[in-house]
Amino acid sequence: MAISTSTPPSTPTLRVAPSILSADFGSLAAAVATVTPGIDWLHVDVMDGHFVPNLTIGPPVVSSLRSHSDLFFDTHLMITEPARYLEPFRDAGADGCTVHVEVGETTALIAQMRELGLRVGLAANPDTPYEALEPYLDQVDLVLCMTVFPGFGGQAFIPEVLEKVARVRDAADADGLTLDIEVDGGIDERTVVEVARAGANVFVAGSAVFNRDDPLAAVTSILAAAAGERAGAPS
Ligand code: DX5
Ligand code: ZN
Repeated sequence: MAISTSTPPSTPTLRVAPSILSADFGSLAAAVATVTPGIDWLHVDVMDGHFVPNLTIGPPVVSSLRSHSDLFFDTHLMITEPARYLEPFRDAGADGCTVHVEVGETTALIAQMRELGLRVGLAANPDTPYEALEPYLDQVDLVLCMTVFPGFGGQAFIPEVLEKVARVRDAADADGLTLDIEVDGGIDERTVVEVARAGANVFVAGSAVFNRDDPLAAVTSILAAAAGERAGAPS
């Protein structure tokens, strides 16, 4: 058994962040209300038709939802020009924004998000290596490891990403960083066990929540599966 000689970093909170991408866009506020008793974060997927081959929502929808919800809006920007839209999303009510490392200008985007008072997230696609994230780990609040190629809900989880999740968590622990590690894509009661074991603590789930008969029960069972993995982890 290894004996730790350094102060262990604080244990990050486990949370499920339901993705509204799989909710009924005609009744978004009602869909959010169904899961609100079980969550404190809501995942908002923004797509521009350029960075990903799909279009979703913009600041007006975030603004409308804001008047119905006090949840933390975890806003995932799958867009090629985040610098143009960070302020409009902040003004609309986003609490945190996550930009993709693949769009570049990462240092400037992090500074812009800080200046705007946003919680700062940095995302990487499944085929983007750990090394692309590594320079920024001590500058961000959250790292999002995509476990599908972004663009659509309901895709199959890509297990090869687990190694990257583990490397991010190991680096954060080694440097004493309290970093949220989020995973997004194909997360359900089964796959959440693997990502929690690898070190993720924020679990985005779209179809596994909103395509169920009881979305709130789905949130609870996904979180319980993740927590069971943590409880069973070796100390
Ligand atoms: C993918 C989005 C995800 C997506 C997850 O491009 O970023 O948030 O909605 O959906 P599921 O959980 O169905 O894979
Ligand atoms: Zn997302």
